[in-house]
Amino acid sequence: MIMSNGNNKSVISLQNVEKIYKTKAGPLRVLKGIDLEINEGEFVAIVGPSGSGKSTLINMITGIDRPTSGEVHVANQRLTNLSENAVAKWRGRNVGVVFQFFQLLPTLTVIENVMMPMHYVGTFSGKRKERAMELLELVDMPDVANKYPSQISGGQQQRAAIARALANNPKVLVGDEPTGNLDVVSAGLVFALFEDLVSEGTTIVMVTHDRDLAGQIPRVEEVRDGKLMEHEEIDERLVAR
Ligand SMILES: Nc1ncnc2c1ncn2[C@@H]1O[C@H](COP(=O)(O)OP(=O)(O)OP(=O)(O)O)[C@@H](O)[C@H]1O
Ligand SMILES: [Mg+2]
Repeated sequence: MIMSNGNNKSVISLQNVEKIYKTKAGPLRVLKGIDLEINEGEFVAIVGPSGSGKSTLINMITGIDRPTSGEVHVANQRLTNLSENAVAKWRGRNVGVVFQFFQLLPTLTVIENVMMPMHYVGTFSGKRKERAMELLELVDMPDVANKYPSQISGGQQQRAAIARALANNPKVLVGDEPTGNLDVVSAGLVFALFEDLVSEGTTIVMVTHDRDLAGQIPRVEEVRDGKLMEHEEIDERLVAR
């Protein structure tokens, strides 16, 4: 297990965040006043039952979705007053996102996928391939650079997706069950990579259903019915398991 090396500089701040979805059956209150502070360099697991609001919470941090009320600041940016376009631009430079299903573009090779985010931030084109290759070496698979996603395993696809998420050197890496669709060995490789990134100063927030994995992450936050649980309650349950 690694120690949290957060340095007390807030990088993610949610204040009284509420999210109400409009559904056919009426308004659905999914986040019920979330306060969350995460410091630079922290490694945080988000756990909780299915439907409790974990993905919704994560989408507030990435700006993929916006709260109904409350404030969100991430990487020195207030998100709640930005246009959708401005958020997308900001995200491309500051936040890497990894999902359960790897979401690589099937018509591009692995290295082309990794280079994709660099187009949007204007990385000098001569540099893109070099940087993408470095990232593929970091995730330990330079040999599959020119293959297509369909030609590599699920674990390799996920590591390629992580390389892509790191393309612009984001301060914050956010994963929604990034190991959820992987076998134990591949999940272990991804987790080891996250530990390396954290030790180099990246802030990581990941949703996981895997209690064993969560037990290895220095800070665990539990969502229950749209609220974050008090720490004493979480600690008791982790000890009791
Ligand atoms: N776009 C949406 N419109 C309406 N309701 C939604 C929307 N997205 C999520 N919900 C509802 O909000 C609640 C929380 O969903 P969310 O996806 O955040 O849960 P979760 O904790 O990530 O669950 P899981 O572990 O199954 O991924 C659920 O009741 C879900 O049906
Ligand atoms: Mg979810």
